[in-house]
Amino acid sequence: MTFKTLTLDQSRQLQAKAHRLIPGGCHTYAKGDDQYPELAPGFIVRGQGCHVWDADGNEYIEYGMGLRAVTLGHAYPSVVEAAYKQMLLGTNFIRPAPIEVECAERLLGFIPAADMVKFAKDGSTVNTAAITLARAYTGRDMIAVCADHPFFSYNDWFIGTTPLDAGIPKVIKELTVTFRYNNIDSVKELFEKYPGRIACLIMEPAKNDDPKDGFLHKTRELCHQNGALFILDEMITGFRVHNGGGQGLFDVEPDLSTWGKALANGFALSALAGKREIMELGGLHHNKERVFLLSTTHGAETHAMAAAIATMNVYENEPVVEHLYRVGERLRRGVNQAIEEYNLQGYVAVLGRPCNLMFATRDQNKKDSQAFRALFMQELIRRGVIGPSFIVSYSHTDADIDFTIEAVAGALRVYRQALEDGVEHHLVGRPLKPVYRRYN
Ligand SMILES: Cc1ncc(COP(=O)(O)O)c(C=O)c1O
Repeated sequence: MTFKTLTLDQSRQLQAKAHRLIPGGCHTYAKGDDQYPELAPGFIVRGQGCHVWDADGNEYIEYGMGLRAVTLGHAYPSVVEAAYKQMLLGTNFIRPAPIEVECAERLLGFIPAADMVKFAKDGSTVNTAAITLARAYTGRDMIAVCADHPFFSYNDWFIGTTPLDAGIPKVIKELTVTFRYNNIDSVKELFEKYPGRIACLIMEPAKNDDPKDGFLHKTRELCHQNGALFILDEMITGFRVHNGGGQGLFDVEPDLSTWGKALANGFALSALAGKREIMELGGLHHNKERVFLLSTTHGAETHAMAAAIATMNVYENEPVVEHLYRVGERLRRGVNQAIEEYNLQGYVAVLGRPCNLMFATRDQNKKDSQAFRALFMQELIRRGVIGPSFIVSYSHTDADIDFTIEAVAGALRVYRQALEDGVEHHLVGRPLKPVYRRYN
């Protein structure tokens, strides 16, 4: 495979303007310029399936797919058509639309542990609602988040646990404590240290490692023994690891769970789902103190509901999750072979489940390296593949995967060379930087 000489003039012009108009130049830090090598397109104009075109007309196979939201593929016809038809009928009325009830019923069909659901637009908002509800239900103020899971919400209760905590009051930060995944002792210690104070634990069902020794079930039990709620964040796992999310895959029943991303194939829709006894605190049919639970102007836009229903139809009727595992496995095998071919074991690694693969890039000392990450991404982009991970979609075909494996092999040849003569001789421009840092 020969690599292209990229023309990125349109991207460069737009990037300069974007940084004048928008702090960070975009609306999600994970899409920002500091997360990509200098030799990367600044803007994507169009997507079809798993292929995207940048502002200069260059084509790439994309991995990551809208930060894992676009599980079926870009511009997926049945989803676009459902949303479009609904838009022609109006998107937002002064009273609810029937499609809200239909969408709630359909989603609850995938989540046996939940009796009720409430919709919003993004994952951060529903996670924050889950925390508020848990605090109200238990009458407690502290919450515990899993320290090994990178992101739950842009709200203070979570961002206050990161180094990027400017503007967040100390009193808020002191109310969030952390535990470690697959470390049941760290959960026990929290309950011992803060007796009667923790309202809930929140975590993803799994990240790169699956639960070991019944970790999820034991954590749930500890929560309930100590009067706390057990919350699962299914933003990534939902409709990706299993149609029923991590709770379906690992057969564990959370009190509350949160969904988003894949729910509407990239249209903005998220959901808080849970047990009636807890969720009903936000309802009109009880005599307890009321909870202001998720009340947003745009939360139930009808076309997002229509997109979600069309997306769930595909999950129900087609082997979407099976496809993600199958093509992901093909990719993992091919990348691992290329790693062996260039003797890069320990320097480059593919992590996670096949449906949700990440890559690790390490330097000469086998330490995680943002410079080598930039180099690897740069060399993939030059060969027509873009992504911060190897997240596949239902639209990635065997041919796309094989093209990618060839691109990876080419990129790894340069990587091997860079380990020998220095990354600075191969990387165009600066290394990447972690999002959670105090200063630029
Ligand atoms: C596990 C997890 N939870 C919550 C969120 C927040 O979702 P959103 O970006 O829709 O607010 C994300 C987003 O990346 C996520 O990965």
